[in-house]
Amino acid sequence: MAAVQCTTIETHGDAIPTMDLTISRNNPTPPPDFYAYHNPHGHRDDEQVQDQDHHQHHQRPARAPGEKKPFLARVCTTNRRPHTTHTCSMSTSTTGVTLLHRLHHSRSILSLALNGAHIFAGSQSGSILVWSLATYSLVATLRGHSGSVLSLHLSDRLLFSSAGDAIVQVWCTQTLKNLYTIYSTFDVGDVFCVAYEPKARTAYFGAQNTSVQWIDLKAVAKCVTGEAHPSKRVHRFFDSKGPGGRSTPRPEGDDGGDDSGAGKTLLEIEPVNIVQYAHFGYVYCMLVLSASHIGLGSSSLLLTGGGDGDVKLWAIDPVTGGISELRTLAGGDSGVLSMVVKDTLLYTGLTDGEIHIWDLDTCQKVRSVQAHCDDVLTLAVKGEYIFSGSASGFTRKWNMRFKCVSRWRAHEGLVLASAVAERNGRLLYITGGNDDCVGVWGVEPFPAKASTKEEKGEGEGELLSSLAKLVAFRTVSSDPNCAEECRRGAAFLKSLCKRFGATASLLPTDGGRNPVVFARFEGAKKKGGKGKTLLFYGHYDVIPASSEGSGWKTDPFSLTGVDGYLYGRGVSDNKGPCLAALFAAGGLLQSGKLKSDIVFLIEGEEESGSRGFKDTVKKHKDLIGDVDWILFANSYWLDDDTPCLTYGLRGVIHATITIQSEKPDLHSGVDGSSLNRQPTIELITLLSRLTSPTGEILLPNFSASIRPVSPSEEGMYLPISASLHANPTSPFHGLPQQEITAYLMSKWRYPSLTIHRVDVSGPSNNSTLIPRSASATISLRIVPDQSVSAVTFSLHTHLASSYPGSNSLSIDISHSAEPWLGDISNDAFSSLRRAIVRIWGTQPLFIREGGSIPMARLLEEEFGAPAAHLPCGQASDMAHLDNERLRVKNLFGARDVLGRVFEELTAGNGNGAVSGKATNGVNGVNGENE
Ligand code: BES
Ligand code: MN
Repeated sequence: MAAVQCTTIETHGDAIPTMDLTISRNNPTPPPDFYAYHNPHGHRDDEQVQDQDHHQHHQRPARAPGEKKPFLARVCTTNRRPHTTHTCSMSTSTTGVTLLHRLHHSRSILSLALNGAHIFAGSQSGSILVWSLATYSLVATLRGHSGSVLSLHLSDRLLFSSAGDAIVQVWCTQTLKNLYTIYSTFDVGDVFCVAYEPKARTAYFGAQNTSVQWIDLKAVAKCVTGEAHPSKRVHRFFDSKGPGGRSTPRPEGDDGGDDSGAGKTLLEIEPVNIVQYAHFGYVYCMLVLSASHIGLGSSSLLLTGGGDGDVKLWAIDPVTGGISELRTLAGGDSGVLSMVVKDTLLYTGLTDGEIHIWDLDTCQKVRSVQAHCDDVLTLAVKGEYIFSGSASGFTRKWNMRFKCVSRWRAHEGLVLASAVAERNGRLLYITGGNDDCVGVWGVEPFPAKASTKEEKGEGEGELLSSLAKLVAFRTVSSDPNCAEECRRGAAFLKSLCKRFGATASLLPTDGGRNPVVFARFEGAKKKGGKGKTLLFYGHYDVIPASSEGSGWKTDPFSLTGVDGYLYGRGVSDNKGPCLAALFAAGGLLQSGKLKSDIVFLIEGEEESGSRGFKDTVKKHKDLIGDVDWILFANSYWLDDDTPCLTYGLRGVIHATITIQSEKPDLHSGVDGSSLNRQPTIELITLLSRLTSPTGEILLPNFSASIRPVSPSEEGMYLPISASLHANPTSPFHGLPQQEITAYLMSKWRYPSLTIHRVDVSGPSNNSTLIPRSASATISLRIVPDQSVSAVTFSLHTHLASSYPGSNSLSIDISHSAEPWLGDISNDAFSSLRRAIVRIWGTQPLFIREGGSIPMARLLEEEFGAPAAHLPCGQASDMAHLDNERLRVKNLFGARDVLGRVFEELTAGNGNGAVSGKATNGVNGVNGENE
């Protein structure tokens, strides 16, 4: 049946709808040979060939006698599905166009619209997806259609959607509620296009049955029962009684898939508001235009483009909204699939890949351009640029002389829809395809005016593009080959600070380690003012990552935006949060709201134990000056939904234990005997004495100093375990709260020991060797009331006294860090909590962490100032692992929270009375220490 359907479509056969064609709408699965038939040369994705001639006046190549014109009506073509997934990255831009984000759905994206806040995407599933432009998170799914959403049109606060279910829906862009459902009493088939004339308050639509119809929204008093609603009608084909005399049963409550419109109005088109046979073909596209624009009076015009190749101009009656035909621009036999108007010129996108340019003043065709090698399914215009998208998968950007300035593959399939808008002084272009995704593209700065926000570097786009640049520096501190890139990364941060108006420099570290970025955002200090100085600490170095042979789905050093997340090494740990803090401080400085200084120390050796940092800070103490509060943003929430504040971190001692023989490497057969004390065996025996069979750490008196759990500390775990227990997306969902608490305590307030690796001397592939030496790297996470010095001493004595052998034992402490416990009752934590409530609309959980930030306690001691810690990322951020990511929403959330906290604390506007100098985090006042 389907094969019949497709092959009966004539070359010019999109003229009159037949019963067969309706099959394509509701059952859009083409036969296997459909594309071969309609696209005999296969998938035409090589647009290179067009580059030579696209700008020339074009003569259509003659079709061979009997050759059919390829038919690529939108509804049919949406099923050419791709088999590849997108991994395009943000920083590769060969065409002056940058992929900012990819948003995925389960079906083709057929229509798009863009306003200041949202991306609206009409899909083959019948849903309209609404994504936030600021964070790329899905904010709503509008369900009002039971067929593919073929067009979207925005006018003021109204969003019009038309679909393959013969219906037009009208939505409020503010509330996202469905206001009206518009339909004809005729079987119109697919409604390909919709437009709105705001003065006459009239909505128009063009349909598969070749009609143009309209409704006056001023006269919405005429509410109807909905009995004639297309979903209630009996379909002459699908609902006819087949050979067995039975028709397909309707699901109960089937109202066309609409679940969103309580209180909406059903509007039936009056028969007088219909122009039948408006075109001799489907009415594919339409737009409304001011007639004065082209000297045709003071009212508005409706332009319609049809499958017959014509564009028609219709005068709109300003009172009734009714239309009367004015002129026809006869373009030839290629269907008009898309249209835009810029000034007095009309651009039409045609089947076969041509774009025609018409002068609307004189109604003359100015020229034809072979723009693409396949149907031009979508056109968009903004400022000085026109964008075309084609069934070839390619998109082109054209200037006002209609010279192609960029060309790129936007989709692995057909480009079905597009929209363009100015956002923060830049052009934002979006495309939708039958690869089930939306591409969000940054295209060169909007030439007319750059917004002051972006000029100052405050805009969202600026934060994202700075992060893309920072992630691209391979600042791997553990890899000596990355030393230059680390310096470039540091220099980038320095110049970013300077652009904000801060003073900034790179502080060298001993041993040629990576430098520390130092910056001062100087506040307008008032004499005698109570403003406090803040120190923000973070790190720009990262853990190694490689795209080859790893589990990374994207290049780890190329920031890639997918479905509201940014993927890249260091994006969460700690480049994203550092930039959020810099942009927060920069914003305050620029707007004159900074009352006192914010100092930044962003180091490049944190992942390698902060080599050289302490000495550098000591050396530059005068430059850094006095500090009242210390802030970090370098850990994660407990789940993906609940904001947290972190008031405790474990410390860490990294040690290498080596057992070395005086003898060289020996042969296990020739030399092996019980008299030979082998370093590897001794090391393993020694390591086995570090822990009991049940995992207890056996260092003498190791846990004696650890404070017992007080009732108030126990109480701190109640809201945490309750929240994790209740959240269906948390890994602890449904577990008994006591179990959750015991698990968290074991990671946060009790120590642990890890053996990271055991190495032996000699070649690794020689299994006849007795290694001359063996070494193990271990680490101990230590907790409040333990100290690095006491535990290190205990480790030394325990190992020395348990060592059974006669070889030499050495213990090297490579780096260490004291644990940190903050005071949640201080001004910094109070301010952070208030800001979280404001920005995230919920109270944070006060948590501790098992990880370590070696400099936390050190900076507190060095500056005699208390620290507070804002975790930015979600539990699923995968820091240190493959596919590290940060949610866009969390990046901006962190910037906004820190902005408020910076403003409050530098103004000295804390809530609590004590802002403490020298509150000793470990032994001082905090919620747990009563
Ligand atoms: N941001 C992490 C530390 C962290 C992670 C704290 C999760 C709390 C929760 C930091 O970058 C890091 O990796 N620290 C190392 C320190 C080590 C290299 C001395 C750590 O914890 O292992
Ligand atoms: Mn880390």
